[in-house]
Amino acid sequence: MNNLKKITSQFSRLRKEAVQILNDNTWEGRYSVPSINLYPYQWNWDSGFVALGFAHFDLKRAFLEFESLFEGQWENGMLPHIVFHSKKREGYFPGPKYWESSTIERANKKVETSGITQPPVHAFMLERIYQMNPNNQEVKDFIKSFFPKLMKLHKYYYEHRDPENEGLIYIYHPWASGRDNSPLWDDLVKTIPITKDDIPPYKRYDNLKADPSERPSDRDYDIYVYLMELGKKHKYKGIEIAKESPFVVQDTLYNAVLIKSNEALINLGREFGFDVTEIEAFNALSKKSFDEKLWLDELGMYAPYDLRNKKHIKMKEIGSFVSLYAGIPNQERADQLIDYIDFLGEREDGYRIMPSFDPDHWIFNPKKYWKGPIWPQMNWLLYQGCKNYGHHGTANILKWDFLELVNNLGFHEYFDPRRAVADTLEKGYGGDRFSWTAAVVLDLMAD
Ligand code: SER
Repeated sequence: MNNLKKITSQFSRLRKEAVQILNDNTWEGRYSVPSINLYPYQWNWDSGFVALGFAHFDLKRAFLEFESLFEGQWENGMLPHIVFHSKKREGYFPGPKYWESSTIERANKKVETSGITQPPVHAFMLERIYQMNPNNQEVKDFIKSFFPKLMKLHKYYYEHRDPENEGLIYIYHPWASGRDNSPLWDDLVKTIPITKDDIPPYKRYDNLKADPSERPSDRDYDIYVYLMELGKKHKYKGIEIAKESPFVVQDTLYNAVLIKSNEALINLGREFGFDVTEIEAFNALSKKSFDEKLWLDELGMYAPYDLRNKKHIKMKEIGSFVSLYAGIPNQERADQLIDYIDFLGEREDGYRIMPSFDPDHWIFNPKKYWKGPIWPQMNWLLYQGCKNYGHHGTANILKWDFLELVNNLGFHEYFDPRRAVADTLEKGYGGDRFSWTAAVVLDLMAD
């Protein structure tokens, strides 16, 4: 078989499998779970990617994905990181009983949810779906009906998560960053002096369903529970939690995703006749503050800011690079960021790009959740960012490194970045038949 034929047949197999996974991971015909065994509810930013995946073969289902997720939106605009549509499911901690959202006045009353949120990818996903279907009336009608919910979410951030009016919003739980046990948070959580007496007893299921060596540690989970307890105590009121919490962070990835989505919201709003003046002002401030406050020359990249201890978290980590997709750096800074990606890909010890954490740091762990592996949605975000700044060569490596991993190791949650090691493995890490892996495969293959 010549190369072209081989690639075409691999693509058609991958496409078929991706469609099958998205359909199989659809429950009650209208929402997706990230992975049936490991994550049996609807997750916030996963759903944004899933909607894009569905848009490649079933637009109505893409709209349902957005709608079912926003069924969980709170009165103040907050969009929870998990929406617990299926109450009877057991085997996930922390489930609906733990969060007790039904006791919170401003929480959604139709469906139980968690009390923290996640990176708001939804506006830019909707804009992309519109760009894929510029003349489709159904898409236009959906955007018009859905726009106010997105606007409410974005305003929530500026009203409730930006106490200094800097345009940089903070998170108060590592899960909200989307990068749970990233080494970024290690020093910060080490300062939290908890013992088992400070938290209620709880039982993990994640490390029974996936290989524990690929999951966060028990100590990480104790901290997660401690911070959730703090959330509960303050009825998930961000400002109150921030006064007491040791973990109050202006994250790179989170703010970059917000800025990119603000821009999508502004573009869509202008096109469909919504007033976007307020969000334009917020976004201009966010972009400026991000570039000025989070950039560190000594690191050659952006770094999250720890508001509690008033200092940057100085580590080379993947969140910084999402700034490229949001168009934040000037060309010079963008080139510097992309040079670093190229450097990791070209060196002799050979990494597929892009590991989620600095491989030269002693904490780097290529197998363990956010301590080093390659993540599908991150490669997608970085791919878009490199294209944004005209680095098509690097963009293509990000795309092909990822597609090859899925082709060789299956539709897993994350993958080993060491080129030589991944070639000897039979599967990826974490959850299997993973929804956003399938969605990203569909979108990248179509590009
Ligand atoms: N990612 C976290 C989990 O593993 C929380 O959403 O459950």
